[in-house]
Amino acid sequence: MQLTHAENFSKRKSSDLLILPFWQGKKGEPACPMREFESAYRLPVRTGDFSGKEGEVCFVYRKGSKENRLLLLGLGKQEEFHAENLRRSYSAAAKACRKKKIRAISAALPEADSPMAAACVEGLLLANYAFDQLKSDILKEEPSVLQKICLIGIDAAVLAECRRMQRLVEAVNFARDLVNGNADDVTPEMLADTALKLAKEFSSIKTTVFNKKRIEKEGLGLLLAVNKGSPREPRFILIEYRGNPDSSDTTAIVGKGITYDTGGLNIKPTGSMETMKDDMSGAAAVLGTLRAAAALRLKVNILGAIASTENAIGPTSYKPGDVYKSYAGTTVEISNTDAEGRLVLADALAYVQDHYKPSRIIDLATLTGGIVVALGEEASGLFCNDDPLAHALVDAGHRTYERLWRMPIFPEYKEALKSQIADIKNSADRKASSINGAMFLLRFIKKVPWAHLDIAGTAFLTKPKGYHPTQATGVGVRLLIDFLTSHENSV
Ligand code: BES
Ligand code: MN
Ligand code: ZN
Repeated sequence: MQLTHAENFSKRKSSDLLILPFWQGKKGEPACPMREFESAYRLPVRTGDFSGKEGEVCFVYRKGSKENRLLLLGLGKQEEFHAENLRRSYSAAAKACRKKKIRAISAALPEADSPMAAACVEGLLLANYAFDQLKSDILKEEPSVLQKICLIGIDAAVLAECRRMQRLVEAVNFARDLVNGNADDVTPEMLADTALKLAKEFSSIKTTVFNKKRIEKEGLGLLLAVNKGSPREPRFILIEYRGNPDSSDTTAIVGKGITYDTGGLNIKPTGSMETMKDDMSGAAAVLGTLRAAAALRLKVNILGAIASTENAIGPTSYKPGDVYKSYAGTTVEISNTDAEGRLVLADALAYVQDHYKPSRIIDLATLTGGIVVALGEEASGLFCNDDPLAHALVDAGHRTYERLWRMPIFPEYKEALKSQIADIKNSADRKASSINGAMFLLRFIKKVPWAHLDIAGTAFLTKPKGYHPTQATGVGVRLLIDFLTSHENSV
């Protein structure tokens, strides 16, 4: 994807189409000066065929010297406007272009500051993603077609901001690719190799990978228990990014990396298993965030940790009713082998606290079906033991529209996970199941600000939505980069 700019309309090169943005209004108000196109947009606007509603597109054809197609693009009401409206509107333009297999466009941007311009680019590029690796050539109906975008009406400084946004979207797409890939390809070993590659690409990143032997030596007993049924080895992956070597402040981000979740011996029924290649979306968010942080040279320190294995079924599977010892020493009765995410996370969280001194920990996990019942695909569940951290994350969620909704972790909820034969059990009944998952994790948190994001509903879509195509969204990457950027500016 080539991103260029032209300071005004007269300086643009020829292309296949020109996007002209309008605010919604009785007459459809141009969102930037565009007098020279008045004769082209006058009729669609005057007839009311085009009114500038958010995401509305209207093609106008005319013999032009630089392009034969204009696309009038609605941005919605200027008064009610949020960066999200721009993302959605420009994503509608990208999708309209894709349908016509258009490859090179010029795009005028609303007269605005650089964050707004970047939001337009964000929408264009997020929607310009297609995962077609698994389609044979003939079936590639909608390849990712936009190759060149020339942004009109911005100077070099704003272009630089837009290029930073491009780096960020590349990291989101990198995470999306990992989630969308076949579970038999995206294995624990492959995730580890991906992390090692990041270290090769960026000198600011250092990756350490534990294989099964090392995991045994370190005593990550719960990760090993979940791995028992799988013919593939587990991996524990540590990725350090030092963007601010003078500071000891470090944010640990921990990802659930279950590369496929069959449920184990408590096997999932048909209808619940088909999407379970997405159960490493937390790990993908960690990898994507580290890649973006390094590419954008954020002045923060991050420790990424991923606990990865399949939750498979086999003659050596871990068994409901058995008790396993965690890395922290806590013993866990396995009341359900399908509550495997909290097991591998518990070991990762305990290990990270033991060996590093993170200033805060944020974990991301497709942890429970319960959070999908509660919040659907619109928001991730936030569980947090520290109000300032929770507020900072909620704010980042509002800005990026990777929204978070805070859930309670009252001590009374601990009751449900009491075990008769071990220190704790890993699941209870259906009541408050997302909270039970969080309470289990909390048991492994010492004195450190901690947030758990349950992304089971937001990581993977069953149908396209706005700038997200179907399947993987790459959720977490834009959220955490926003959070880390405002953190960077506050210390
Ligand atoms: N990976 C699933 C949660 C999930 C469900 C993710 C739907 C994405 C979409 C998790 O490992 C799981 O199976 N959770 C169980 C826990 C229960 C057995 C306590 C659940 O939520 O049903
Ligand atoms: Mn499960
Ligand atoms: Zn799972």
